[in-house]
Amino acid sequence: MDASISVRNLVKDFDSLRVLKGIDLEIPAGRLVTLLGPSGCGKTTLLRAISGITDPTSGEIWLKDRRIDGLPPENRNFGMVFQTYALFPHMTVEKNVAFGLEMRNVGRAEITRRVHAALELVGLAGHAGRLPKQLSGGQQQRVAVARAIVIEPDVLLFDEPLSNLDAKLRDSLREDLRHLQQKLAITSVYVTHDQAEAMALADEIVVMKDGQIVERGSPIDLYRRPRYRFTAEFLGMTNVLEADIAGSQCRLPWGEVRALDNPGETDVEGVAIRPEDLGVQPVEADHHGVVEQSMFMGAATHYWIGIGGRTVRAITAGGHMDILQNGQKVKLTAPARLHQLKTYHGDERRAA
Ligand SMILES: Nc1ncnc2c1ncn2[C@@H]1O[C@H](COP(=O)(O)OP(=O)(O)O)[C@@H](O)[C@H]1O
Ligand SMILES: [Mg+2]
Repeated sequence: MDASISVRNLVKDFDSLRVLKGIDLEIPAGRLVTLLGPSGCGKTTLLRAISGITDPTSGEIWLKDRRIDGLPPENRNFGMVFQTYALFPHMTVEKNVAFGLEMRNVGRAEITRRVHAALELVGLAGHAGRLPKQLSGGQQQRVAVARAIVIEPDVLLFDEPLSNLDAKLRDSLREDLRHLQQKLAITSVYVTHDQAEAMALADEIVVMKDGQIVERGSPIDLYRRPRYRFTAEFLGMTNVLEADIAGSQCRLPWGEVRALDNPGETDVEGVAIRPEDLGVQPVEADHHGVVEQSMFMGAATHYWIGIGGRTVRAITAGGHMDILQNGQKVKLTAPARLHQLKTYHGDERRAA
């Protein structure tokens, strides 16, 4: 099935609080889209509206050419995975995964076949007879994933499914979710406030703030060419520098002149340089700045460099050089083209 989702002018009010301010969103069939934004921006509310758990105040939700916003959740054939695993504690893994199929009156032999196939897919083939409490958090979340996919859903919805796991388990389940989603090609919406998770998993990232969509794009587009400062900073460390702009060129605070990637913008806050794109060389004279602080991280070293009353951050790949000492004079080299960042004000037509 071509299970694209279309959300149109979706509004959700909780009493007098407008939590979703007219969301328009297209999710292509078979792709994984992440909703990324700070806590409280409305990600869960949007996901719950798509699932049918929450009724929107106004607006429409379509699954391909069928309007679904009036349907109860059980008539949507969506699989869901939450932050808390929400397994039945007294049922075995097998029973937990079978539950949704039993609700749908699937035959016994078919249930056994599909449950085992789903457990195989999430790497738990040998654990069918265990109880949830006999499994690690990561394994319990795998059971929750098996339970979501076993019904052969049109759409998979994830709400911060990795945030209760410790870092190592989170990384391994993240990789497995990516492979699984690509293999099954089920249309997926994945909520997270974690930019690394969004970048690792998403075909497309939708950045949200205060109940609105700021912008959307592939991970690389949003990281390299965001429209707004909000997006640039949410997706990772960045230096936002005031630069003297003249036509299609700009002059950086330390005097380097560079071409602009997106000249002619209005409402610009500055030009962006990711710390890993800023070159740093130690010099004896004619320096641009001075090392204020460093942090050795193994694969990379982070520097704070003072230049005329401000501090810029640089990250150099580890291994090639000794760490520069505090007080070391340095020259900076900016990348060949620089990208301007605008201020995000929200869509005021919709903020009422
Ligand atoms: N059931 C509810 N009743 C009242 N306010 C709610 C309810 N659910 C969420 N909110 C409010 O809606 C806003 C968005 O919440 P939520 O969608 O959970 O954000 P996120 O998932 O991005 O952290 C928050 O201000 C939250 O307090
Ligand atoms: Mg949430």
